Amino acid sequence: MKSAPKTFHVKSFGCQMNVYDGDRMAELMSAEGLVATDDAHAADLVVLNTCHIREKATEKVYSDIGRIRKEAGKRGGDPMIAVAGCVAQAEGVEIVRRAKVDVVVGPQAYHNLPGLVARAATGTSALDTDMPVDLKFGHLPARRRVSPSTFLTVQEGCDKFCTYCVVPYTRGAEVSRGRAQIVDEAKALVDAGARELTLLGQNVNAWEDDGKGLHDLIADLADIPALARIRYTTSHPNDMAQGLIEAHRDISKLMPFLHLPVQSGSDRVLKAMNRSHSRDSYLRLLDRVRAVRPDIALSGDFIVGFPGETEQDFAETLSLVDAVGYAQAFSFKYSPRPGTPAASMTDQIAPEVMDERLQRLQEALNRDQAAFNAATVGRTCDVLIERKGKLPGQFLGKSPWLHSVHIVGDLAIGDLVSVEITAAGPNSVTGVPKSGHEPLRESAHERNRAAA
Ligand code: 5AD
Ligand code: SF4
Repeated sequence: MKSAPKTFHVKSFGCQMNVYDGDRMAELMSAEGLVATDDAHAADLVVLNTCHIREKATEKVYSDIGRIRKEAGKRGGDPMIAVAGCVAQAEGVEIVRRAKVDVVVGPQAYHNLPGLVARAATGTSALDTDMPVDLKFGHLPARRRVSPSTFLTVQEGCDKFCTYCVVPYTRGAEVSRGRAQIVDEAKALVDAGARELTLLGQNVNAWEDDGKGLHDLIADLADIPALARIRYTTSHPNDMAQGLIEAHRDISKLMPFLHLPVQSGSDRVLKAMNRSHSRDSYLRLLDRVRAVRPDIALSGDFIVGFPGETEQDFAETLSLVDAVGYAQAFSFKYSPRPGTPAASMTDQIAPEVMDERLQRLQEALNRDQAAFNAATVGRTCDVLIERKGKLPGQFLGKSPWLHSVHIVGDLAIGDLVSVEITAAGPNSVTGVPKSGHEPLRESAHERNRAAA
């Protein structure tokens, strides 16, 4: 039997929401008096906050459990292992059977982690994969110290049921957190040092409270004086409301960056994916966004090798990439997920075909990313300093367009500095601080609000 743990380590895989959840679980365990350690092999309790989106991510959990046990064992340790996140939700008791872990806790139940750990310390493995109507957020401790750029979950779950995707099953139906609770958490995060907030949701544009939409929430948050920047992710094209598009024109704290997954450029494939938008409706939507914010950096997600994808379908994806000119994007090989409709479709694509298509797609995306980066050279923009770089005096920050910017200067983490971009590489740019700091553009929206 394992005794009650005194130290813990949380390791998060996958999306930004998992990073947020991992931080919150760490805060929860700290509030219980456990001490965080960076060394996964020395902790009494290891929480693996897992991702189920593709098969590789799922299998990683099992290899990680084995490695942690082996390395800890070399030092005479036998850590308690808790599996959290989407694999916990999807596989539940199967994980206890296959890997003999102590705790399994789903993404909507992790506020119960301390109780589950206490139960596991009595020798019984403990499992909670409930999806309660009452959201976990009200049961989590306040946030104390945060980095300049911080995530804030405002919405969870997805009702879209794209035929390849496990998210509607692992994260559940769309639920929005209440506006007042979000604004309170945002203020606490800003008091704790955040200058940029990224609002998170599996389908964040579907956020709503009492008839208010995401753009109303963004406007509320823009009123927090010490908050300099707002971002949001991830968006579904069909929930991109006009108000949100206009917010990119009217709210200067809302950064000119939009992650809008499209997955494929072929209408035939989009239909089979149940994406409920077409190639053309997506392109027209981007035209409307660019009309209000011409410098917006666009990002997307792509899947190659969806069942039945022909060379012609794939050519349409490449031509969509050419038409958009993404600033950055993520691309994946299709991975059949148990229980999803696409997994049982005929015409699954051979792995070598997927490899070849992924390579071609990534070449096109890399080309556009390099071109976008190069086009910023000579521009001056605000950069939020997030951490120290590898070289002496070097810092790393983010541009409004989400570039990683390398700067050498007399700077501090959390500074928002005016920087001239002087050089661009494939994945980042370099800048020099301007002597006189240029003020942020004040928008009509903010003047009106100040006057009101
Ligand atoms: N196979 C490959 N990629 C997937 N994604 C979601 N499900 C799958 C799958 N079964 C990708 C989509 C989504 C991103 C988060 O992960 O592109 O937008
Ligand atoms: Fe998955 Fe996104 Fe489709 Fe929802 S909208 S089912 S999260 S891919």
